[in-house]
Amino acid sequence: DIVPVIICGGCGTRLWPLSRKSYPKQFVPLVGETSLFKASALRLTGGRFTPPLILTNADFRFLVREQLAEIGITDPTILIEPEARNTAPAILAAALYLEKSDPDALMLVAPSDHVIPDNEAFLASILAATDAARAGQLVTFGIEPTHPETGYGYLELSEPTGAGSLSPIKLKQFVEKPSIDRATDMLASGNFLWNAGIFLFSVRSILAAFRRFEPDMVEHVAQSVDRSENDLGFIRLAPDSWSRTQSISVDYAVMERTDNLSVVPFSGKWSDLGGWDAVRRETEPDENGVSSSGPVTAIECRDSLLRSESDSVELVGIGLKDIIAVAMPDAVLVADSSRAQDVKIAVSKLKEKQ
Ligand code: GDD
Ligand code: MG
Repeated sequence: DIVPVIICGGCGTRLWPLSRKSYPKQFVPLVGETSLFKASALRLTGGRFTPPLILTNADFRFLVREQLAEIGITDPTILIEPEARNTAPAILAAALYLEKSDPDALMLVAPSDHVIPDNEAFLASILAATDAARAGQLVTFGIEPTHPETGYGYLELSEPTGAGSLSPIKLKQFVEKPSIDRATDMLASGNFLWNAGIFLFSVRSILAAFRRFEPDMVEHVAQSVDRSENDLGFIRLAPDSWSRTQSISVDYAVMERTDNLSVVPFSGKWSDLGGWDAVRRETEPDENGVSSSGPVTAIECRDSLLRSESDSVELVGIGLKDIIAVAMPDAVLVADSSRAQDVKIAVSKLKEKQ
């Protein structure tokens, strides 16, 4: 059996002002009708999957339960993190929690903010990874890169992928969020795939990796799991020891350091809606490259995203080129397309002002 472990504690700051601290991007219908969180959970039901284990924070707990119930998932395990500590402690908590019932279980760690329309291709890649995961590999899923993205992890292959092959390939190295120069070099070498941010491994092997690279984190998180409390069906991790663990992503804490990594290629469409530039690529543009939604009028605009999220806010663009404009009732973002990733800088500036 494979346990879907869905991590959805991020606040999606790069999609401000649509994504907010109290209602972040994964719960909002960003592209299409349904939220990315619901789509992620639905993708991992049936077949070999057990009911999911969700990791989130207290603010989103009812939202999570409600959105799961809407798609017929009524028996999830929901672990509540006392504070956001990034993905490493969250995944570690899930592994320690699952270890108590089945240390040999496979965990499929999946983020909640991805667009993966081709479910069959996705499941085929996951099934192709199970033997390697049972044999102790930490299996990543690799996407053919299209541009020198600096917001992703890069997977260096030890041998070329066969066309259309789903056989796991050992990795030489994992490079998280490179500089633009390094990303450009890796893209040119043709020997790298993007890390999809989805992982398959056994509880036993990820715990062995954490024990080796982050023994202090294991100690703190284990205490939190052992002293967790059941609150109306939510499992609340104990706060004291949790607050002593460092905030770090699993990519830096484990993946960049370990040597038992493999990758299974994933050739279906995949997108991490990490910023407005990605949302623009995912939203059908008109013949001038303008993607718009809501009450929007675009006059002689090109290659831009114009979104008004409120029926009462009319958004008008004239002569825009490579612009991202997002209007909410209480906030407006206007940015050059090339600066989409810097929205997070704006959000921290706004926080300072508060
Ligand atoms: N529960 C929980 N707690 N979830 C979290 C936390 C946390 O503290 N922090 C982030 N998450 C969730 C986010 O909601 C998201 O679903 C997922 O973990 C990944 O976090 P991101 O912050 O979106 O990571 P990223 O996109 O910068 O980088 C990761 O994904 C890329 C592909 O999308 C890395 O794995 C990269 O290597 C990868 O290329
Ligand atoms: Mg992401």
